[in-house]
Amino acid sequence: MRSLAHLLENNRAWAVSMREQDPAFFSKLAEQQSPEYLWIGCSDSRVPANQIVGLLPGELFVHRNVANVVTHTDLNCLSVLQFAIDVLRVKHVIVCGHYGCGGVGAALRQERLGLVDNWLGHIRDIVGKHERRLAGFRDDDARFRRLCELNVIEQVVNVSQTTIVRDAWVRHQSLMLHGWIYGIHDGLLRDLQITAERPEEIEPLYTACLAGS
Ligand code: CO
Repeated sequence: MRSLAHLLENNRAWAVSMREQDPAFFSKLAEQQSPEYLWIGCSDSRVPANQIVGLLPGELFVHRNVANVVTHTDLNCLSVLQFAIDVLRVKHVIVCGHYGCGGVGAALRQERLGLVDNWLGHIRDIVGKHERRLAGFRDDDARFRRLCELNVIEQVVNVSQTTIVRDAWVRHQSLMLHGWIYGIHDGLLRDLQITAERPEEIEPLYTACLAGS
């Protein structure tokens, strides 16, 4: 197992099948990438970004971390966002969470997992912010599901507040933000209806997203 031969073998078979479908596939990609979408998702192995939206290499720029968190001081995430918007000029930023997210669940249950607990402090902040809303759920599963959704909604707001997105909107660059959640149990994405392409849209959308929950 030192060389992970089975993975390298899979790779060769995949490259062959891609070339069979389009002999110029890799040579075209080697010249440039021009993805229209930036995906900010969870690292969870069950949520493979390209596959679930049916996009090929070259079509989706991707950033993933535990629990799809966007914070104002995470140089890694901000650099991806800046490169995607300013250099690649993606037209859409999709924040995609998922139900059953281990990171969100650990924050909700206040589990101790190690270093990652510090990262999940961002989720615990969301739990605190929506404490009363979450306390209204009698069913633990329903509360957990709602927190997974609230996390996406909050992260879309965080994306909208970055200097990168604000500057893009000031210069009238076409850029739309989306908040989605994925069901591991059924393979389906749900749109959380926080789709914004102008700064003034965020607040009313945020309020509408929280209404009735
Ligand atoms: Co997750």
